[in-house]
Amino acid sequence: MQHTKTQNSPIGIFDSGVGGLTIAHAISNLLPKESIIYFGDSAHLPYGDKSATTIIHYSQRIVDFLLAQNCKLILIACNSASSAAYDTLTSYIGSRAILLNVIDPIIKHINANLAKKNIGIIGTKQTISSKAYQDKIAALNKNIKVRGLATPLLTPAIEENFSTHKIIDAIISEYLSRGELQNIDALILACTHYPIIKDRISAFYNNKIDIINSTEIIAHSVKQQLADNNLLSANNNAQHRFYVSDLTESFQHKAGMFFGDSINLKLYR
Ligand code: DGL
Repeated sequence: MQHTKTQNSPIGIFDSGVGGLTIAHAISNLLPKESIIYFGDSAHLPYGDKSATTIIHYSQRIVDFLLAQNCKLILIACNSASSAAYDTLTSYIGSRAILLNVIDPIIKHINANLAKKNIGIIGTKQTISSKAYQDKIAALNKNIKVRGLATPLLTPAIEENFSTHKIIDAIISEYLSRGELQNIDALILACTHYPIIKDRISAFYNNKIDIINSTEIIAHSVKQQLADNNLLSANNNAQHRFYVSDLTESFQHKAGMFFGDSINLKLYR
């Protein structure tokens, strides 16, 4: 595939809102010379409750914006959009940029590390009902039993800053005690919000099962893709820009919490 972007072109990352900032942060730590343009579609969140058609429509508009910013690589940092829109966006973008989703690196990780296991997946209604993870894991032919559960209350609870409150433990316990997730050896956190509560989820299992957290795995996959395409930046003055499609004070505050550092959001619609 031919790419016309240069090594110092930015990486584009998008999500429905703040969740993808957990991944943007991991990428900026691993690849400090890369400039990031982040887009959070806050006017249209949550994606997790929307139809695939609507998510594809919103995602195409964001991709247009990121391509216009000359991004060399675009990462769909949202499981809901990765499961609904990745195939369409692949043909839409063609060779204009490298396109990555947050699902395939996890499937690759499972392929390399897990076999004959019982794996649970938690995520939004869209991610779970699309069966994107379930089908890709089945295609590995590794005798893995996989079961998904939509856990829609987690995202608003995390966004409302309850991630260290006993309310989150009650929600975790309610969901993870359900029949679908019994006797699992590993749990995939298939929502970019969930790394924030990884430790609470792990504690629910007395730290005895493998919690598959995508942030580091995806950051390494971005690095690998850039290296394979000879597009790793050597820029010592990398700069990040953060855009949202709707801007409020509380959203600005949330963004800092998810990125782990205060950031300046710009409105773009
Ligand atoms: N961060 C999104 C994901 O990974 C979930 C949030 C939403 O529903 O918009 O699926």
